[in-house]
Amino acid sequence: MKKTFLKVENVVKSFPIAGGLFGGEVASVKAVQDVSFELKKGETLGLVGESGCGKSTLGRCLIRLIEPTSGKITFQDEDITHVSGHRLRELRRKMQIIFQDPYASLNPRMTISAIIEEPLIIHNLFDSNGDRRNRVLQIAEMVGLRADQLTRYPHEFSGGQRQRVGIARALAVEPELIVCDEPVSALDVSIQAQVINLLMELQQKLGLTYVFIAHDLKVVEHVSNRVAVMYLGKIVELASSEELYVHPLHPYAKALLSAIPVPDPNSKDQRIILTGDVPSPMNPPSGCHFHPRCPQAVDACKVQVPTLEIKRENHIVSCLQVSPENSR
Ligand SMILES: Nc1ncnc2c1ncn2[C@@H]1O[C@H](COP(=O)(O)OP(=O)(O)OP(=O)(O)O)[C@@H](O)[C@H]1O
Ligand code: SF4
Ligand SMILES: [Mg+2]
Repeated sequence: MKKTFLKVENVVKSFPIAGGLFGGEVASVKAVQDVSFELKKGETLGLVGESGCGKSTLGRCLIRLIEPTSGKITFQDEDITHVSGHRLRELRRKMQIIFQDPYASLNPRMTISAIIEEPLIIHNLFDSNGDRRNRVLQIAEMVGLRADQLTRYPHEFSGGQRQRVGIARALAVEPELIVCDEPVSALDVSIQAQVINLLMELQQKLGLTYVFIAHDLKVVEHVSNRVAVMYLGKIVELASSEELYVHPLHPYAKALLSAIPVPDPNSKDQRIILTGDVPSPMNPPSGCHFHPRCPQAVDACKVQVPTLEIKRENHIVSCLQVSPENSR
C-alpha cells in the first residue's frame, strides 16, 4: 500500500494569553484553526498570506517544533501529533526548517563549518570525525559554498550566502520534509531567484518535499505544485499553482493576486485594494473572518461560517459567494 507522506487533519493551535490577578488564561490567540491537507512525497506546497495569519505556526506544528492544540498529523504513516522524547528527536532529523533571517538563526560565534556540523553531532550520525567533516564538505559544495569559506564566520557573508549556510545546515542530516519559512523574504530581489533555484535543484537531486511559506504569491508561483492561501489561521483556498494563478476564486486570493504587478500595461485586470487591517486572531470576526474587508461580502457572511468545498477540479475554496464551477 502506498504510504501517506504527510497528512494534516483539523489542526488547531491556540496560544494562551495569561493575565489578571492570578496570571490565569484570560484569552487565547487562535493562530491556526482547523487546517487539513495532504502532501505527497517530492511535492511543494506554497503557503501564502499576510503577516500574522498563522503560516509559521502551522509550519512549526507540521514538523512538531510545537505541539498542536488539537487535530492530527500523520507523517509516513505514523501519528506524530503527540510524540515526544527519543522518537521526537529521531523525527527531527527527517523534518527540518529553513528560516527567513539566516543571520538571526546562525550563531555568530561559530564558524560556517561548525554550524553545518552541529546537527550531525546532535544526531550522532557519524562515528569518525573525518567522516563527519567529509559530510560537511560534501553538503557545502552541494549548496555552492567553497571549502575555503568554511573557516569563516556568518558576519563575513552576504545575505544570500548566509541562506546557503542555513540550507546546508538543514540538509546535513538528510531530511525528507523541509519547511522553508520565508527563505528569501529578507534577501535582495536579485538574490532571491538564485536561492529559489538552488532549493528547486536540491529538491530534484534529493527528492525533498517542501512546505514553502511566503507573504507574496509571486514568490511561490514557480516553486509550488499547489498553493494554499491562509487568512486568520484558516486555509481559504487551495489549488494547483496553474489553477490558482489563472482562476483565483476566493475574494482574498483575488486581491492578493491583483497586487502583483503585471508586465502588460494594457491589461484590464483591476487592482483590488483591501481596506482595513487584518483583525486580531484573539477576537476574529463572526461568520466569515474575511467579511469586514471583503469587497463581495453580503449580510449572510456576517453570520454564516463558510467551509472549504470543491469548486473546480483540484480546487477548494471557503466562500459563500463562490458556486461550484464558477470561474472569475
Ligand atoms: N508563541 C506565541 N505566543 C502567542 N502568540 C503567538 C505565538 N506565536 C505566534 N503567535 C501569534 O499567532 C498568530 C500567528 O503567528 P504566525 O507567526 O504563525 O504568523 P505568520 O503568518 O507566520 O506571520 P509573519 O508573516 O509575520 O511571519 C499571530 O497573531 C502571532 O502573534
Ligand atoms: S464568504 Fe462572504 S465575506 Fe467571506 S470571502 Fe466569501 S463573499 Fe467574502
Ligand atoms: Mg511567519
